[in-house]
Amino acid sequence: DAQQLELATGSKKKLRRFIVIDEVVDELYGSKVREYFEENNVQHKILALPTTEETKSMDLVLNILQEVQNFSIDRRTEPIIAIGGGVCLDIVGLAASLYRRRTPYIRVPTTLLSYVDASVGAKNGVNFLQCKNKLGGYTPPVASFLDRSFIQSIPRRHISNGLGEILKMALMKHKGLFDLLKSHGKYLLDTKFQSYSGSAGHGDAALQTTRIAIETMLEELAPNLWEDDLDRLVDFGHLISPELEMRVLPSLMHGEAVNVDMAFMTYVAHARGLITAEEKEQII
Ligand SMILES: NC(=O)c1ccc[n+]([C@@H]2O[C@H](COP(=O)([O-])OP(=O)(O)OC[C@H]3O[C@@H](n4cnc5c(N)ncnc54)[C@H](O)[C@@H]3O)[C@@H](O)[C@H]2O)c1
Repeated sequence: DAQQLELATGSKKKLRRFIVIDEVVDELYGSKVREYFEENNVQHKILALPTTEETKSMDLVLNILQEVQNFSIDRRTEPIIAIGGGVCLDIVGLAASLYRRRTPYIRVPTTLLSYVDASVGAKNGVNFLQCKNKLGGYTPPVASFLDRSFIQSIPRRHISNGLGEILKMALMKHKGLFDLLKSHGKYLLDTKFQSYSGSAGHGDAALQTTRIAIETMLEELAPNLWEDDLDRLVDFGHLISPELEMRVLPSLMHGEAVNVDMAFMTYVAHARGLITAEEKEQII
């Protein structure tokens, strides 16, 4: 950020950043992240943590806050950076919102699900007393930096997991996105949402699909950022899934639980005469 650079150089103050990174992501990309900060002469502290659904708790938030306090960041000019999946982004978002009542933070999503979903919007949170996201708030990040190349290292099952949230947006908002998934879904799964030139017949399906998923999500979230209106299209698939996900933890991933919920509700919608048998078959 040129303005920040000027601010820092102008005041002879060295740029500083506190980074929380998922420990698996750290193993894969940590050296590049360190290299980046070193090359840019940024004093930094990188905290690698096991951020999984089972560890998504207030304990981890307090752990981060302790380290933030030790590093002693300047709340006005030193945003906390979160690099990881949806769990990491949610935990760090909550920690940042609590530290000195609100400290800016940046999201860098590294899974497909967090790339298309948790990167957008204001929500953060942790699980509490076996209840999903029971503690949390609405503090939007100052920025989300999207780099699809992170997704190439996530396991195939995690790609399907993210596809669940993309399908949600397709079913709720965008027929074109549904058609893209029908035509290129298998290809996207196989190629882990990377863009390849010369992929006959597929164009840049990864770019198109992720862009539409994010844009449709933004359209829904922006006018209702604080969820004053609880009748939200983006909540499709999130009625029975939170309890299901927590009850069988760690068997089902978030997007898988959402998929189960969406499948069940598709049958309900058909039974109520809201969709045709053909539409039901296509969705299932
Ligand atoms: N705040 C929001 O708006 C929002 C929206 C959707 C979901 N969520 C939350 O997101 C969470 C699910 O996120 P998720 O599906 O990203 O799961 P996750 O954060 O648990 O990540 C899944 C696993 O992938 C690993 N991983 C992350 N990036 C990787 C990479 N590039 N290569 C290899 N492995 C990698 C992690 O170590 C982790 O074990 C849920 O807790 C859900 O509540 C939040």
